[in-house]
Amino acid sequence: MKIAISSDHGGNHLRREIVQLLSELGVEFVDLGPDSDDSVDYPDYAGAVANGVASGNYDRGILICGTGIGMSIAANKVKGIRCALVHDVFSAKATRNHNDSNVLAMGERVIGAGLAREIVKAWLSEPFEGGRHERRVGKVMELESK
Ligand code: RB5
Repeated sequence: MKIAISSDHGGNHLRREIVQLLSELGVEFVDLGPDSDDSVDYPDYAGAVANGVASGNYDRGILICGTGIGMSIAANKVKGIRCALVHDVFSAKATRNHNDSNVLAMGERVIGAGLAREIVKAWLSEPFEGGRHERRVGKVMELESK
């Protein structure tokens, strides 16, 4: 599995923490920055990750900003993206099991690094359950084409 990860200035510290985690886990990833702590616009970075996932260059994406809200709103504008804003381990598991989310958003100003690491571990390892959820996810994807 190849992951793309990015943030804005509000998520740089947590992004570096999660990059460290991905290295520890041996997960293949690309860090799309930003490279400095200068103020940037989160849609630029959400777009880079979301378009990369939607086009198949990456299997999944992780986006971090101050709240995770801007990143999740922006990522979900891209066709094919199911971005889940998650700040607890239960939801991290559930969104993989039920929603087949392909992008994870988190807020650095909302949770600490320890919890964020557990969220990422759960989100990376939990499978999509399919079955009735397949039908529902299909209906979600139909909404974006209208
Ligand atoms: C940046 O100050 C902040 O607005 C951004 O990181 C994010 O929280 C937006 O949703």
